[in-house]
Amino acid sequence: MSPIASAKSIGAGEMLSVDHLLGIKDITAADIELIFRTADGFKEVLNRPMKKVPSLRDITVANLFFENSTRTRVSFELAEKRLSADVVNFSSGGSSVSKGETLIDTVNNILAMKVDMVVMRHPDPGAAVFLARHAKARIVNAGDGTHEHPTQALLDAYSIRERLGRVKGARVLIVGDILHSRVALSNIFCLNKLGAEVMLCGPRTLIPRHVEALGVRVEQDLDKALRWCDVANMLRIQLERQGGQASTGFPSLREYAMLYGLDLKRYRGIGKEVVIMHPGPINRGVEITSDVADHANSIILDQVENGVAIRMAVLYLLAARIPRAAV
Ligand code: CP
Repeated sequence: MSPIASAKSIGAGEMLSVDHLLGIKDITAADIELIFRTADGFKEVLNRPMKKVPSLRDITVANLFFENSTRTRVSFELAEKRLSADVVNFSSGGSSVSKGETLIDTVNNILAMKVDMVVMRHPDPGAAVFLARHAKARIVNAGDGTHEHPTQALLDAYSIRERLGRVKGARVLIVGDILHSRVALSNIFCLNKLGAEVMLCGPRTLIPRHVEALGVRVEQDLDKALRWCDVANMLRIQLERQGGQASTGFPSLREYAMLYGLDLKRYRGIGKEVVIMHPGPINRGVEITSDVADHANSIILDQVENGVAIRMAVLYLLAARIPRAAV
């Protein structure tokens, strides 16, 4: 498949099984493989001197961010512009949301301006599902509260595939604040669908009860968990979702760093090469120290780079499902 071609050139059997990307839970392993194959093509395009393709010409995408973001927001906007889409950016700060306008009224007013696709980040779990039911546009969930962050999980698994040459059979450790993490949930769904083994590690208070029912192992001892894994994905403590520093579920950030943080001494103690990941933003010195974040085995910036190709692939494949002659 040439990514330069129009979305119509995707042959039979090369379509996603969904009209929206709301969560990894809703898509199949075949969908994920299709997104990866499509991202491979776009990654090649992104390494050319001319990085732009006309695939989404005449498509308008609105990026609606009701919650802060650096990577996801910039990455989606770049992906849309590389695909030649028209792009509208909206953030709730400074908008009529502060005057009491509801989510659905806000979105319907934006859609009335002939928007085809909406990329939305929202603090409430389920906000993207709600939108997909009520708005006439393709919806991409860019993170909904503690629920899912599907494009993050896709770019994480894609980056593992790139570094290890496979995802199936890879042992992936996810460390930290699993309870409040949409990245963790989407990663668990994605890695399970692709045949990886998943282990979770963190303070008992930050691991959801009965999480093993999702097909993951839980290990409290980080050093043991690190010796088990091929890849360690170090998550950020989500202080903003825990009601502030006074109710974190652990005594102090210093103690957290001591028990669940990855520094160079602990990393060297593993005794083998473990791939280091982090979805960002990093709290250097808490979940990971600078010498580990910037280590040769860290693929943190590869994750960010791959995010653009993955998001191009998702937008391109969803646009192919818009029933209109212009696509
Ligand atoms: N990984 C991630 O979602 O980062 P942002 O919050 O900066 O978008």
